[in-house]
Amino acid sequence: MMIVNEDKCIGCKKCIYDCPTSTIIYNERKKAYIENERCINCGHCIAICPTAAVYSDSLDMSEVEPYNEEKFSVNPENLLNFIKFRRSTRHFQDKPLEKETIERILQAGRYTESSTNSQDVSYIVVSEELDKVSDQIYRVLKKKGEHILANLSPETEHLKKYATLWTTMYDAYLDDKAKNDRLFFHAPAVVFVTAGQEINGALASATIELMANACGVGCCYCGFALVALNDQPELLKELGVQEGKKIIACLVMGYPSVKYQRTVPRNPLSVLWK
Ligand SMILES: Cc1cc2nc3c(=O)[nH]c(=O)nc-3n(C[C@H](O)[C@H](O)[C@H](O)COP(=O)(O)O)c2cc1C
Repeated sequence: MMIVNEDKCIGCKKCIYDCPTSTIIYNERKKAYIENERCINCGHCIAICPTAAVYSDSLDMSEVEPYNEEKFSVNPENLLNFIKFRRSTRHFQDKPLEKETIERILQAGRYTESSTNSQDVSYIVVSEELDKVSDQIYRVLKKKGEHILANLSPETEHLKKYATLWTTMYDAYLDDKAKNDRLFFHAPAVVFVTAGQEINGALASATIELMANACGVGCCYCGFALVALNDQPELLKELGVQEGKKIIACLVMGYPSVKYQRTVPRNPLSVLWK
């Protein structure tokens, strides 16, 4: 619950102006008062108050930090360069990824915006059970591939190349697991991003990937894992995906064993100005 400390409130109405759900009123004592029924706990009232009069009695207020330009601003040129230089990593050092580093990376997802501030994103980090999970995924993909190849039709023709890859990739993996891992690229950890709403999981995934890069950790999205898992309720349950959530992204992570020397070209910006 968000609460206004009336001793500190100066009645400036900034929180009332900025509240996205219009849930704050100006009371008879000329102070802000939060009607919590409509409150989505977004914390704008905490963030905007010039006298730090607003607090939450259910969230950890010790993590709230006052604005500090040196700590919180990013130079736009560096930010864009950082985004440009990020690459999908498919080659990893044979080195574990520390739990503390993963936790630090996931903090970026925790602070990412979500629709109606639902904060419905959660993570499943697989490292110790990676062999088991990748075996399961490879097996599902092979089955799917075989099914598609055996039932090809004009509607599924475009899937033929993936179906072929899924069957051959499993065989190659079985042949030499230590060498031929085209699913998780021998990464030490895989993070499954789960959410109720896709957009929330996708946004969190993007910020996590950037944070990982800032920590010197490389990532690659594994779309094949989603193809394999999201229609396998028993595997989702075994993996620990919560009821009502699905896997939005699968991020393979580890310390890169490759170094890129430059950025890459991209299609021109596609934008319609009206
Ligand atoms: C949703 C999504 C799924 C992806 N799935 C895979 C995958 O299964 N295997 C893979 O090697 N790369 C995968 N990628 C990585 C893309 O191939 C890569 O982002 C793209 O080629 C551009 O390269 P870059 O990330 O280095 O800029 C995926 C990327 C996204 C965004």
